[in-house]
Amino acid sequence: MSPVPGRPRRIPLRLRRTAVPWERQAPTWRDAKPVLIAEALKRAQSRPSGNWYVIGASRDLPPGRALGATVGSTEVVAWRDGEGKLRTGPGACPHLGAPLRDSPVHCGTLVCHWHGLSLDGGPFAGWEPYPAFDDGVLLWVRLDRMGGEPPSERPYVPVRPRARDAVEAVYRGIGRCEPEDVVANRLDPWHGAWFHPYSFVDLTVTGTPADDPADDDGFTVEVSFKVAGRLVVPVRARFSAPEPRTVVMHIIEGEGAGSVVETHATPLAPDGPGRPRTAVTEALVAASDRRGFAVARAAAPLLRPLMRASAGRLWRDDLAYAERRWELRDSGRFPG
Ligand code: FES
Ligand SMILES: [Fe+2]
Repeated sequence: MSPVPGRPRRIPLRLRRTAVPWERQAPTWRDAKPVLIAEALKRAQSRPSGNWYVIGASRDLPPGRALGATVGSTEVVAWRDGEGKLRTGPGACPHLGAPLRDSPVHCGTLVCHWHGLSLDGGPFAGWEPYPAFDDGVLLWVRLDRMGGEPPSERPYVPVRPRARDAVEAVYRGIGRCEPEDVVANRLDPWHGAWFHPYSFVDLTVTGTPADDPADDDGFTVEVSFKVAGRLVVPVRARFSAPEPRTVVMHIIEGEGAGSVVETHATPLAPDGPGRPRTAVTEALVAASDRRGFAVARAAAPLLRPLMRASAGRLWRDDLAYAERRWELRDSGRFPG
């Protein structure tokens, strides 16, 4: 999948003439065929991941500190070496098992806080590093034993606007479900205006994989983002799943064309009663060719919390959807 070639057509902000009450909008359930979503999910799951998992945001790991993550049952520690390069490996100290996420980093070396064993990122005393990748927005670790697929040199990072033309923000949330429930939620674009009426109106799914067998990859959606009152921003967007745990929305036409919203689902350790948990890491990389966007870039530190807050509001609902889906699957009651 790729962004629309050439310069996107400008669609300005629009004032909706009439506000259709929520209950009078067109129902989407007839079009949102469970089999369409299930097949899109199956295709996503059949794509290679190269055993890469997102563990956090690049911005959240400054030099001099360690980051801990538990992917499935694998405890991982991450930090930056003296050159700022991402290093990852098992989260337990090879000596007596101290949690390395709590250890300090001195000049790029992780120093265990129990007895002072030092790790520079290379193999040492039975500690073997994991391959790691920092794509500039997100941090990835490759766990071959857990993934069980043929490994790839790098993760499948979606096409994004150039960093210097964009403002990026990363939202992170956790749900009691499996990664496939998060991906399935994203592959159901029909719920947008019904389930998130505070953000979306006038949503029409204009293309599904079933419409064009030659392009079996994406869902195309025309939708308006609510700005304030009746003021909306109409856009055309495309959802696709480049790998089993990622769904990407590219804005292909309208304000912010070229922007992407990437949703990454990473399995975590189960909770106390044994229910699965999944981290949602959503990277919003917003681009615009409007002149005012240069100002927006300068204001990025202020914009980021706003972008995260709006993603957080959507994900409160979407995680409820994903958790519900898992509960129904777990109890054999899923209608799909
Ligand atoms: S547990 Fe880390 S040095 Fe002893
Ligand atoms: Fe949603």
